Formats: sequence, C-alpha cells, structure tokens
Amino acid sequence: MNGISVGILGTGKYVPERRLTNQDLEQMVDTNDEWIVTRTGIRERRIAAPEQATSDLAYEASVQALKSAGITADELDLIIVATITPDMFFPSTACLLQEKLGAKKAAAFDLSAACSGFIYGLANANALIATGMYRHVLVVGAECLSRITDYTDRNTSILFGDGAGAVVLGHVPEGRGFKSFKLGADGAGGDLLRICGGGSRLPSTEQSVSDRRHFIEMNGRDVFKFAVRVMGSAAEEALSSAGYEKADIDLLIPHQANIRIIQSALERLNLSEDKAMINLDRYGNVSAASIPLALAEAVEQGRVNEGDCLVLVGFGGGLTWGASVLIW
Ligand code: ACO
Repeated sequence: MNGISVGILGTGKYVPERRLTNQDLEQMVDTNDEWIVTRTGIRERRIAAPEQATSDLAYEASVQALKSAGITADELDLIIVATITPDMFFPSTACLLQEKLGAKKAAAFDLSAACSGFIYGLANANALIATGMYRHVLVVGAECLSRITDYTDRNTSILFGDGAGAVVLGHVPEGRGFKSFKLGADGAGGDLLRICGGGSRLPSTEQSVSDRRHFIEMNGRDVFKFAVRVMGSAAEEALSSAGYEKADIDLLIPHQANIRIIQSALERLNLSEDKAMINLDRYGNVSAASIPLALAEAVEQGRVNEGDCLVLVGFGGGLTWGASVLIW
C-alpha cells in the first residue's frame, strides 16, 4: 500500500465482571468441563450485567483506546463499530457511542461482518485515512453475545461471551502501519451460522420467539472446516501481498473461536504456539470483539514491540474472513 502510512495509535479493552465457567454450564446443559476444554480450549466467558448493552462495553474500551492514543474524543473523524449485537436495530451502536464519548465531529456507522467485522472495520478506516479524507478513526469490536445465545443449546452456549476492544487509527511513521488487507466473503455458506428471527424475512412474532429463532443457529462442524481452511489461506495471502514471509511473523492475533482452529493455523504458518496471542480460555468467542481484545491484551502484556510484524486473522458468519499484516 502506497502513500500515507496508517497504523494503530492506541488500544483499549473492556470485559464485564461476571464469569460464566464450564462448571456453571454443567448445571445448565448436558456438557462437562473436560469436553469443553478439549474440544474448544474455553474455560470461562464474561457476561454483561443486565443493565449493560453493547455500546456500554464499547464505551469503556474506547475511552482506554483514546487515552492510549493520546487524543481526545473531539479529534475523532469517524467511529466504526463492528458488531452483530447492536443495542437496537437503529440508531446504530456507533451513533450511541459517539454521543457517550462526546465525539461531536465524528461520523459514525456500524459494520456487520460477524467475527470478521473488526478486520473489515480496520480495512475501511485504513483506506479512509490513506486517501486523506480522515485523520483519526476509532474502530471498535463490541458484543453482548450472551443476549443472542440459547442457553438450552449445548452446541453453542459453551462458545460465546461478551466484551469489547477498540483501537484508534491514524498516521504513523513511514515503514510502520498496515501493509496489506485480505477480505473475503462466501454468502453460499450463510446458513451455517445465523440468526433468522427478528429481521425483515422473519419478523418477531410470538411463534418466532417460542421457536427460539432469535438465537444463534450454527452448524459447528462445517464452520470448523471452513475456519481451518480460511484462517491459513487468508493469512498467507495477506503476507504475500505485503511482501512478507511466514518466518517474518512476530505475533499472530487470531480470532478466538476454538484452540484447535488456532493450532491448525499455526501449523500451516509454521509457527509455534508462543507466536500466537491466545485468551479464549478466559473469554470464549467474543465475535467482532475477539481480535481487538486479544490485541489490547498483547500490548498490555508487553508482547508487541516497535517494528514487530503482526498478522491479524479472523473468520465468521456470512461467511466472511479477513487478514491483515501490520508493522507495529
Ligand atoms: N458437551 C458435550 N458434548 C457435546 C457438546 C457439549 N457442549 N456439544 C456437542 N457435543 C457432542 C455432539 O452432540 C456430538 O455427539 P455425537 O457424536 O453423539 O453426535 C459430539 O459431541 C461431537 O460433536 P461435534 O459437533 O462433531 O464436535 P466438534 O469436535 O466439531 O466440536 C464445536 C464442536 C466446538 C462447536 C466445533 O465444531 C467448533 O468449534 N466449530 C466452529 C464454531 C465456531 O467457531 N463458530 C463461531 C464462528 S464465529 C462467528 O461468526 C460468531
């Protein structure tokens, strides 16, 4: 990518206090800790308090990101919130966040690309800054997946949690910043992972609610196969379009869906497990929040140093996928 170098100026994260452990889930559905840990790597997830919605989680992460970037909310030109659990259909969660932050000069919109949403958001923000249209863009991944999870379904209830991660994008010195993006979609696989109820095709009715159509429906095995295929290939394509090799990767920031999916990506990229940021044991799958939450924790833990080559890669409903090479 030529022209203005765009990178991350600051990161932030927020997770609610309440923990939902595998032992708690044993009381709710026919499952057990051993099955969940060996099949997914997840031990606990965070659950938003009843009075919290996605914009509240997004707000906490955004305040931290602005602080770490050293800018104020009124210096923001645009806010993008990637989420599949907006506070409401409209106004957008990005507009609700704009008001909470007092980011009066910022445009704001939500982006729906499921777990790939944060990378889609970064690609949009990067392009808008690189053209000179905007200087500072806040990109947030925030989810309250507990609100769309069916806690009577053992196939899905063990996977998901709530949380938020945020970054501020802006100009960085030449040589640093985003080097490539690879985004993809395959709508043919849309029925593998979806919520049907409450939209314009199946509006909410007493029947749709009693049929539990407002919860996540998932074909886990097929999503797993898709994820294993696409995580490696998207990362490889992003590396090659940036002119980098697998061996150049200092840290992989993968979508945190399942430890076995991450391990297969590591294998394909010839990386050892210490080259990946992994926090799904503590948070589960937080969809669009998962990559920015992992990135913010990696920064917090001192695992990211100036000049490091990071690869961010994710997949999700849509089906969608995305990867990016970022020099820190
Ligand atoms: N506890 C105990 N047993 C279970 C559970 C559970 N929670 N869930 C399923 N099982 C059983 C199944 O019923 C099945 O039993 P059977 O063989 O008698 O039929 C057996 O365990 C194996 O089931 P599989 O579905 O084959 O298990 P798998 O190893 O594929 O793991 C999982 C399931 C964890 C869901 C895996 O397929 C997966 O992670 N898929 C990807 C899901 C994903 O990442 N989704 C999110 C995408 S991101 C987004 O956009 C939100």
